[in-house]
Amino acid sequence: MATYTLLINGRNYTADLASDTPLLWVLRDHLGLVGAKYGCGIAACGACTVHIDGEATRSCVLPVSAIGNSGITTIEGLSEKGDHPLQLAWDEIDVPQCGYCQAGQIMTAAALLKNNSKPNDEEIEQAMSGNLCRCGAYHRIRDAVKLAAEKG
Ligand code: FES
Ligand code: FES
Repeated sequence: MATYTLLINGRNYTADLASDTPLLWVLRDHLGLVGAKYGCGIAACGACTVHIDGEATRSCVLPVSAIGNSGITTIEGLSEKGDHPLQLAWDEIDVPQCGYCQAGQIMTAAALLKNNSKPNDEEIEQAMSGNLCRCGAYHRIRDAVKLAAEKG
């Protein structure tokens, strides 16, 4: 066990953790930030996606000891009032079905739009292809990313 201080959504959080504790467990079980979801635990579904220094990252396979001073952003910190262009587009298009995958989808899309504010269909497809949705909301997800890119 060691004491780790993590910069999450602009705030410092401190917790005593085993060095191999995955970030997802830290967020959900230790800090109560439950927006990122556990889907597979093996970096295969994207439900646990957060940003590490702005890059979409699967928190289920990232040990806390590897984070260092990097800034972590979770869905809770993506915007002040849930009004990120993607969140507005998600509302407008009514994207979610069960909702389980959606935080990961939005975080992956947010990283895409940060690097490429006007992605074409292929770029959206490619960026989002690793985020699985068991409800099959893929068309609405794509439409919402496009809408956010247009409006953002
Ligand atoms: S829970 Fe992390 S990728 Fe599936
Ligand atoms: S909305 Fe149900 S898994 Fe994507």
